[in-house]
Amino acid sequence: MKIIMLGAPGAGKGTQAMRIAEKYGIPHVSTGDILRANVKGDTPLGQKAKVFMNQGLLVPDDLVIDMLMDRIGQEDCKNGYVLDGFPRTIPQAESLDAALGKAGEKIDLAIDVDVPDDHIITRMGGRRACLGCGATYHIQFHPPKKEGICDVCAEKLILRDDDKAETVQKRLDVYHEQTQPLIDYYKKAGILKTVDGTMQMDSVFEAIVQILGESLWQ
Ligand code: AP5
Ligand code: MG
Repeated sequence: MKIIMLGAPGAGKGTQAMRIAEKYGIPHVSTGDILRANVKGDTPLGQKAKVFMNQGLLVPDDLVIDMLMDRIGQEDCKNGYVLDGFPRTIPQAESLDAALGKAGEKIDLAIDVDVPDDHIITRMGGRRACLGCGATYHIQFHPPKKEGICDVCAEKLILRDDDKAETVQKRLDVYHEQTQPLIDYYKKAGILKTVDGTMQMDSVFEAIVQILGESLWQ
């Protein structure tokens, strides 16, 4: 089962992808998390990526595509994965399709978590992220048990550098320009499903589980 999560920054892709991964026993592959780990580790990739990420811009395709291909080529991805934050441009989607096609494989489903921009702005300021395991919290909608500490791995939670209000607006502009066309791309491929991401987290997850049940295990 190979699933893509689509949606604006802050739509809840990461929140839902983690739950899908847990329920179905497949890895959650987030390009944002991999890039942030590289930034934290000050690797050559991290040093290049940081400049783009902190401005709310996309990291260039060639860097991200190589990184993603390397990740999904690993053993734990053999039986599928849920991709969160990739693809984000048409060239990324085409590269993924081409690589999978060569191996006789394909993406099963693209799930668009649909949330209007005004909702997003409210959500982002309250988000807290764990750089240790990628878990995401919200000070109001999904607080950790102990303030500032990750429930899963006990690392300190942070406010992401790119969650400042002006950077969020830039990320939304970039999303509409470069990533939203993927909705049509996957609609044409006949594998797009949309969920209303403004519902409560549990309701969004229920809607996704229903879609997965209908699409994959009939
Ligand atoms: P990335 O890490 O992918 O960030 P993003 O797409 O901007 O998305 P977010 O992680 O901000 O949001 P999300 O949809 O995961 O929402 P979340 O679940 O956290 O990418 C960061 C940067 O890396 C990019 O800007 C780019 O520079 C670079 N990058 C990454 N991939 C790339 C690629 N493929 N190509 C090029 N560059 C790339 O939820 C948000 C908040 O809302 C949380 O606090 C959460 O608790 C809360 N929440 C979630 N669901 C709900 C709900 N239903 N109700 C209320 N609150 C909710
Ligand atoms: Mg995320």
